[in-house]
Amino acid sequence: MPLTICFVASEIAPLAKTGGLADVTGALIRYLHGAGHDIRAFLPLYSSIDLDSVATTAVDALHDVPLELGPHRYRYSVVEARLPGSQAPVYLIDCPALYARGRLYTADPDEHVRFLALTRVALECCQRLGWSPQILHCHDWHTAFAPLFVRTIYGWDRLFQPTRSVLTLHNVGYQGVFSAAAVDDLQLGGGRYLLHQDDLRAGFINSLKHGILYADVVTTVSPTYAREIRTPEYGMGLEQVLRARGDSLVGILNGVDYDEWDPRVDRYLPQHYDAGRLAVKGDLKGQLAARLGLACGPRTVLAGVVTRLAAQKGVDLLIDALPTVLGSRDVACAVLGSGEEPYERALGALDRAFPQRLAFHRGYSEELAHWIEAASDLFVMPSRYEPCGLNQMYSLRYGTVPVVRETGGLADSVQRYDPSSGAGTGVLFKPYTPEALQSALGAALDLYADPSHWTRIVRNGMTQDFSWMRQGTRYVELYERLARLPPAGRA
Ligand code: ADP
Ligand code: GLC
Repeated sequence: MPLTICFVASEIAPLAKTGGLADVTGALIRYLHGAGHDIRAFLPLYSSIDLDSVATTAVDALHDVPLELGPHRYRYSVVEARLPGSQAPVYLIDCPALYARGRLYTADPDEHVRFLALTRVALECCQRLGWSPQILHCHDWHTAFAPLFVRTIYGWDRLFQPTRSVLTLHNVGYQGVFSAAAVDDLQLGGGRYLLHQDDLRAGFINSLKHGILYADVVTTVSPTYAREIRTPEYGMGLEQVLRARGDSLVGILNGVDYDEWDPRVDRYLPQHYDAGRLAVKGDLKGQLAARLGLACGPRTVLAGVVTRLAAQKGVDLLIDALPTVLGSRDVACAVLGSGEEPYERALGALDRAFPQRLAFHRGYSEELAHWIEAASDLFVMPSRYEPCGLNQMYSLRYGTVPVVRETGGLADSVQRYDPSSGAGTGVLFKPYTPEALQSALGAALDLYADPSHWTRIVRNGMTQDFSWMRQGTRYVELYERLARLPPAGRA
């Protein structure tokens, strides 16, 4: 039976992306629409979205609509786009007062209001369109108030009577905390008692926590992360509310969009390859090394890194571990990333210290990201924590052996290579120390030196299948189970 699914997210690729959240929402929407469900997505019309690149139509019923959020007054209109590569409708919320900013996310004082507006508008659009969603699927802190809003502000409306909510946690490190002085922005009226009272008394409101408290089901993006976030080490203060959800907190590993990430068809590559044509990968390595000014002979191992430069990603380990490895082994390194300034500076310094051995490209580039995936021998992800991680799964398909810390989705998608059996797809390390990363890199370089192991590990990785055809069915099963449940209490 086709389901009606309202999808609300702050990023959907390729329309608006800062990281993996966008890849996942974009691919999941395409999968669900392709599987015949009536899925409709809501996204802010950020100024970075190029409307000329997507066919859009104005929605008459949603033109110049007033929106009240406590003391704030806005007017918005909605244009309907089709998600590129799919016919799935994406409703873009045109409200320049909130979304015409330099970037998707800001540190402006009204940041929480920008995403409360997204959440409210999605629900008001359902009402104005007379469309009753069986599933309301929200993502991360930005839209985490949706489950509480359907129970309170919209609890009177029979349209939402069949609606069951799902919150997906892509990263509990970002919680959308704002001052309790702004409580009126939530417009909860008599439902205010449902807010976390201890937090309110302490002077703040935690958006993500309310999603965890009130969604019918909470999912996260790997089974290991689902276990980890129940502990103080990974729960970022939310471990208690997460543990309290018991079986209603489940981990579903992300999928990969192989239309975008496959060396057989990659639109950014001048030549394509598969496990039977690995010489092409070698050619691409030579081309990328020349382009980045790296001294990289055919037996030099090229290690790639593509990442947001944030503490989560273990950038400090890389910065500490690389000098020894670059100075002692035949290895070169291509790093693409942007983010926190101290990391950018430290990587810039490494680039200057090892001019022919390390190339740091500061910035964001889809094209270079694809090239690094294809041309590298190793892909390094020493994350402190990693809810899922996508690049290690992309790497496997590109025959680029992942060297990863054993945490979250990295632990669930990369199997330790066992030289005695020839099984496994990558190299894993556990202690969060530069020494552990150095020795993992050393182990990977030793494997590279033995072609019988190397060919095996590369081929093992290339045959892995993390497609959405598999992972998407897990969401559909969950939605179907939820749609049969009686409603939770409405306030
Ligand atoms: P996260 O969402 O935590 O950043 P993921 O591994 O889930 O981590 O997804 C990251 C996505 O963002 C991947 O598609 C990756 O290629 C992309 N990405 C990250 N940094 C850059 C960059 N500087 N340039 C291009 N793509 C990037
Ligand atoms: C987050 C996580 C990352 C995950 C992505 C998509 O940004 O940091 O691990 O892959 O969301 O779910």
